Amino acid sequence: MLKSKVVTIQRHIVEQERLHPGATGDFTGLLWDLTIAAKTISREVNKAGLVDILGVTGENNVHGEIVKKLDVYANEKICKSMEHGGHLCIMASEENKDIIPIPDEFPKGKYVLIFDPLDGSSNIDANACIGTIFSVYRRKTTGSMITQEDCLRKGTEQVAAGYIIYGSSTMMVYTTGQGVYGFTLDPSIGEFLLSHENIRIPSKGKIYSINEGNANTWDEGTKKYIAYLKESDSLTERPYSLRYIGSLVADFHRNLLYGGIFLYPADNRDPNKPKAKLRLLYEAAPLAFIIEQAGGMASTGKERILDIQATELHQKVPVIIGSKEDVLLYEKFFNQK
Ligand code: AHG
Ligand code: MN
Ligand code: MN
Repeated sequence: MLKSKVVTIQRHIVEQERLHPGATGDFTGLLWDLTIAAKTISREVNKAGLVDILGVTGENNVHGEIVKKLDVYANEKICKSMEHGGHLCIMASEENKDIIPIPDEFPKGKYVLIFDPLDGSSNIDANACIGTIFSVYRRKTTGSMITQEDCLRKGTEQVAAGYIIYGSSTMMVYTTGQGVYGFTLDPSIGEFLLSHENIRIPSKGKIYSINEGNANTWDEGTKKYIAYLKESDSLTERPYSLRYIGSLVADFHRNLLYGGIFLYPADNRDPNKPKAKLRLLYEAAPLAFIIEQAGGMASTGKERILDIQATELHQKVPVIIGSKEDVLLYEKFFNQK
């Protein structure tokens, strides 16, 4: 049977905008530009095996990790698609050490875009899922100088966040604080179509996602929590199943739909200097906004991720994110003395 109402992402964005009386259309334009970049990156990701774009560029990004060519491509594509629209005043990317100003020749807008152009890039050569994560803030400073201050924010100040997942199909999932919506790209018409309306994460899952290879670096609370998940108890539906792709977007997306918990705790080998891996502005805060909008939770173990004020562009935090009951229980283990 034919569905009576096919909603393209553009229609959805416009309809959402109508809910806000004084809206200027600026934000709609911003998201629209982003979908164009997403479609182009999706095309490149899909044909990556066919052209000579795979492999390492030989350069390291600011985190000292090897950058794949597709990271560079996605980064440039997003910058170029977003800089001229007049919606943004500044950008920041996981791949750039410093903020990305809008070139002088283009008008400046009132929004700030922060993004991880290609997440899970170690999976590119294996044809596994990768993604793009984005986060939008309103400009904070006033006057002609637009500075890093506009990017150093608290997650609660986000006006939108989302991701694009390049999987067996390409999807865009986003929130503007009115629930979480998912759109699947129909490649035959080049449109994202509404496929997941008002996504809610189950309050408890049966899946945990963590890099177990790091087990000896975990704090005691995390060790005990993971051991607990592996015990058998039919009442609490244990043992949980381990699912770990190593692409945050892909692990997050699966757990969002099925329920469960993703954990990237700090390396605690030196308890006085715990070392986190995931980035607050590019990864943790946007996904935290989405999960809360879907009824889930995101925590470092000690505090709500959305409450953390960024003090550095490339600040890293522990990330425990997923179904509410699972994250709450983790916090109990983590904070047990
Ligand atoms: P990126 O590809 O943007 O650098 O991010 C990689 C991140 C994230 O996608 C994933 O969850 C995590 O790194 C995996 O890390 P491990 O390989 O240490 O498990
Ligand atoms: Mn990433
Ligand atoms: Mn990345």
